[in-house]
Amino acid sequence: CSYLKEKSRKEVLEVLCAGLARQEYRGYDSAGLVVDGDKPGQVYFFKEVGKVAGLRKKIAASAIDVDKTLMEQVSIAHTRWATHGPPSERNCHPIPSDPNAEFIIVHNGIVTNNAELRFVLEKRGYKFQTETDTESVAILTKYIFDQHQEKPSFTDLVKAVLKELEGSFAFVFKSAHYPNEVVTARRGSPLLIGVKTDKKLKVDFVDVEIAGQDNSESLIDAPPAGLLSVPNATPKVLRTQSRAFMSEDGLPQPIEFFIASDAAAIIEHTKRVLYLEDDDIAHIAQGELHIHRLRRTEGGEPSPQQQAATRTIETLEIELAAIMKGKFDTFMQKEIYEQPESVVNTMRGRVNFDDFKITLGGLRAYLPIMRRGRRIVFIACGTSYHSCIATRAIFEELTEIPVGVELASDFLDRKTPIFRDDICFFVSQSGETADTILALRYCVERGALSVGVVNTVGSTLSRETHCGVHINAGPEVGVASTKAYTSQYVALLMIALQLSEDRISFTERRRQIIDGLHALPSQIKTILDLDGDVQQLAKVVGDNKSLLLMGRGYQYATCLEGALKIKEISYMHSEGILAGELKHGPLALIDENMPVIIIMTQDSLYPKVQSAFAQITARKAAPIILCNEGDKAIPANARTIRVPKTVDCLQGLLNIIPLQLLSYHLAVRNGCDVDFPRNLAKSVTVE
Ligand code: G6P
Repeated sequence: CSYLKEKSRKEVLEVLCAGLARQEYRGYDSAGLVVDGDKPGQVYFFKEVGKVAGLRKKIAASAIDVDKTLMEQVSIAHTRWATHGPPSERNCHPIPSDPNAEFIIVHNGIVTNNAELRFVLEKRGYKFQTETDTESVAILTKYIFDQHQEKPSFTDLVKAVLKELEGSFAFVFKSAHYPNEVVTARRGSPLLIGVKTDKKLKVDFVDVEIAGQDNSESLIDAPPAGLLSVPNATPKVLRTQSRAFMSEDGLPQPIEFFIASDAAAIIEHTKRVLYLEDDDIAHIAQGELHIHRLRRTEGGEPSPQQQAATRTIETLEIELAAIMKGKFDTFMQKEIYEQPESVVNTMRGRVNFDDFKITLGGLRAYLPIMRRGRRIVFIACGTSYHSCIATRAIFEELTEIPVGVELASDFLDRKTPIFRDDICFFVSQSGETADTILALRYCVERGALSVGVVNTVGSTLSRETHCGVHINAGPEVGVASTKAYTSQYVALLMIALQLSEDRISFTERRRQIIDGLHALPSQIKTILDLDGDVQQLAKVVGDNKSLLLMGRGYQYATCLEGALKIKEISYMHSEGILAGELKHGPLALIDENMPVIIIMTQDSLYPKVQSAFAQITARKAAPIILCNEGDKAIPANARTIRVPKTVDCLQGLLNIIPLQLLSYHLAVRNGCDVDFPRNLAKSVTVE
């Protein structure tokens, strides 16, 4: 969303379309926008299924006057990833409340009491045009507005709306009744506001208005057939000091604002951003930004960040160039090739290769508590979950603390018991994955120590965990995660090393691993040189329906992650199989037609994998073998991918790279959109 001054409509449309295009990497299925029209209250909507390029074409083909200068305007754009209702123009945001578009909103997240809201509003005679949960909110806003005899402030109106909602959301509200004003609010979905001014600001924070007990009645709790009631009291305001932006000379400044769920969308306009907390409501009007808090009666105590009386404007460090493709065809390819540098960035300033010391500043104060922990629990989703499986064994070995690894959704479904002396790790590239955030809040409520291992600085997870480590892999754009995996791997390993530094008995092991870390970048480069061979391999296996990846010990995670990469971007069925489980089922799949990749790099489990190899070749499989350079025990006639040898607990980090390349070539071969696989999103901010 943008609040801009004295811009032509063309400039406004460009800000919106470029912002949407920068978020394309998150994955979406349709895009839409709304800009102010020529007369007061008039707006123009544009909506299109598919990519932003299609939306641009539609705008170019329209007859609107793009040269008209808009003195002050609020415009909104959105890319949608369908949760309620299939991708279609009709279901595309921004969603109006009625044919006159009195209220217009965009929404990320899911309103879980949508069915009740819809039922009640339909009973009151409102007509729905879409299948989205968002429309219930748009219509509810109009309904509440219509009930008021005196026009409420835009913020109070939105507060009344939000009180009725369950679920997670980030909203932007625009209205014909409040021209040139915009209200935005979040609960569970990321939201930030970019601030742009030519002059230096006098204050670098915005005061938060904290309202007292809100005793207005719910509109929806009334029995469905019964009548909706009207809020009967205004909340008592405990503290109002919201401060407008002032320049150094004390004069109000012509300020523009950009609202987005991701900094990438606005970074070309401003690097000064303010992250909203859950239940924050921000109101922009007349060049001023005011932040208010929504008081909730249920849902637990607000976190210290949420309770704080100010929100600080931060200056982002990321450069736009870092999120662009460079010489590569796709972001995923670029990110695979960045790994020799990204793993170094993860270690930079933290690993001393001369005295074998690790320094993780973000954990320092918490190390004694972590070492006293009785149990460690790793919680994550997708690829991040695989990096936890990959490092679990070395964590257990070096810390001598049992480590559980949990998929965030299942962890929550089971209401897993968590205790005060548990150390819970939340591993996430985006730091915005809804299930992982909910799991974090669940653990914090139970008194556990929370540790974030996150790529995105400023994300919800990095802000809400007690302590943690940023993996510093740089922005990852391709939906399929690659460099974040290897950097998470290194970060988790560094944490295990740091935790074990007080144990003399581990000195030799620690040295061996730190030497391994030192050699990583050049070994990764060696593997990237195999790209041509891997491309050939993609031709060999590409025509099959399915591909099995087999391994054990440290390589089980490699199999799971390799299979995930293959299925998510090439749409070929692929499965990671623990070789130790072969006889308990998967062996039934094996015959001369089933393609298999077996990981046989040389660690302590090598003999056991050799026996799995014997079992499948006895059933006529001709597996491709991922093995170490110079391994003479590998049958001479076998097709191989040979990678450099490293210490056992790091071998998985090297072994995943040829599999990333393989998935990439399979996807290109199948004509798939590598960076934007169908039905998937980079950042899953809904449960
Ligand atoms: C989505 C992405 C995956 C990612 C997973 C977890 O499924 O497509 O690439 O691994 O979310 O995301 P996170 O940001 O928490 O690591």
